Amino acid sequence: MNLMDRIQNKTCKVGIIGLGYVGLPLAAELAKAGYPVTGFDVDEWKVGELNAGRSYIPDVPTGEIAEAVRKGLFRATTDMAALADMDAIDIAVPTPLRKTKDPDMSYVVQAVEAVKAHLRKGQMICLESTTYPGTTDELVKPMLEETGLKAGTDFYLVFSPERVDPANPQYLTKDIPKVVGGIDKQSTDLACALYGKVVTKTVPVSSTVVAEMAKLLENTFRSVNIGMVNELALMCHRMGIDVWEVIDAAKTKPFGFMPFYPGPGLGGHCIPIDPFYLSWKAKQSGFEARFIELAGQVNSSMPEWVVTRVGDALNTVKKAVNGSRIHLYGVAYKKNVGDMRESPALDVFEHLQRRGAIVTCSDPHVPMFKLDGHGDVKTIPEAQALAASPDCVVITTDHDAFDYAALVKKAALILDTRNALKTFSGAHIHRL
Ligand SMILES: NC(=O)c1ccc[n+]([C@@H]2O[C@H](COP(=O)([O-])OP(=O)(O)OC[C@H]3O[C@@H](n4cnc5c(N)ncnc54)[C@H](O)[C@@H]3O)[C@@H](O)[C@H]2O)c1
Repeated sequence: MNLMDRIQNKTCKVGIIGLGYVGLPLAAELAKAGYPVTGFDVDEWKVGELNAGRSYIPDVPTGEIAEAVRKGLFRATTDMAALADMDAIDIAVPTPLRKTKDPDMSYVVQAVEAVKAHLRKGQMICLESTTYPGTTDELVKPMLEETGLKAGTDFYLVFSPERVDPANPQYLTKDIPKVVGGIDKQSTDLACALYGKVVTKTVPVSSTVVAEMAKLLENTFRSVNIGMVNELALMCHRMGIDVWEVIDAAKTKPFGFMPFYPGPGLGGHCIPIDPFYLSWKAKQSGFEARFIELAGQVNSSMPEWVVTRVGDALNTVKKAVNGSRIHLYGVAYKKNVGDMRESPALDVFEHLQRRGAIVTCSDPHVPMFKLDGHGDVKTIPEAQALAASPDCVVITTDHDAFDYAALVKKAALILDTRNALKTFSGAHIHRL
């Protein structure tokens, strides 16, 4: 039976390499649709949890994993040799930046090495990790062809980016159209057939590089617009205009405008990172991606701006940052998640401490986190923090679980970087 038939009758064995925020939801959807799925990860703890039927990703209910395991449709393993048995393999491993802001492709290379070691005729390989345009053609394909097998003749090769938005209940993996670009039509058709069984719509494009670039356009669009609105916030502050009211007014335009909001800086695995994959690659063609660089500069200056504004707020009550007790509400990079990757709250924390503040924080989604040079930092319940009468509270992440009414009532001074206190007023409330 050929691969298309196996995809259609759901006997196609799917392997997912990397069981994180992207790989696990996809694995769960494929198993739910009836495909036998094997998840591959280097993290033994994750593999153990999943095989015990427990999910560690909030968007994937534990019940779904438990049921898939019970039905024999899902198992996880650290043994890459099992890749040989897979018909379709999806790679969803991290693509971070090095300190120099160059792409760190080591996880992708490691995963592709594992695929290469077990590659056989008839398999479909799909790269899902966000990466620079050209990765599939220039990096993955030559590596796999070192086996002597030829892409397009002996195996199928595809790039199909993930667009998952963790903690967004309106758009889960299955609800988001999936862009698919293969090295040839057959590869694209096969991937569309497989993913089409689990997502609302597939969007075939003419090449892997278009699919890679489309993902980077999406994330660069966000980074640049957030950079623009962050600059607008600084401008409005200087001019004495309420930026939040301005955005609320502008967004009533029914066409040609999309609201973006200022904040303490960019966070997460995607927006602060992906645009630099593009500017790095553009530089190799002698092209300087000016919007990306400028947005990066503005966005990365926001944590310092928050600290300046804390200083201004303290100044109104004749206090200095040095020696003040400052409490952060929220350390995760965005509301209602426990993800700390690239969180701007970490920068705010460090900048405040460097200026002599005594910093504490609360986050119902993050019991403890690591801070470079400080080791483990424990968060404390907000009620306990407020009872200790901090000199200033900074809302760094606007989690729904916070009791904002209690905060407004009890805190002496508040800097709200997220407009979480939109419906409250008071001379002690300062907004970004
Ligand atoms: N998190 C998001 O919201 C999001 C959205 C869209 C795209 N992406 C992209 O998807 C990719 C994966 O991101 P993520 O958020 O799922 O990362 P993650 O860190 O949550 O998960 C990655 C998983 O890969 C595993 N891993 C690392 N190296 C491995 C290897 N060699 N073999 C097997 N497993 C390995 C890790 O242990 C981890 O479990 C990245 O390129 C990211 O940019 C992420």
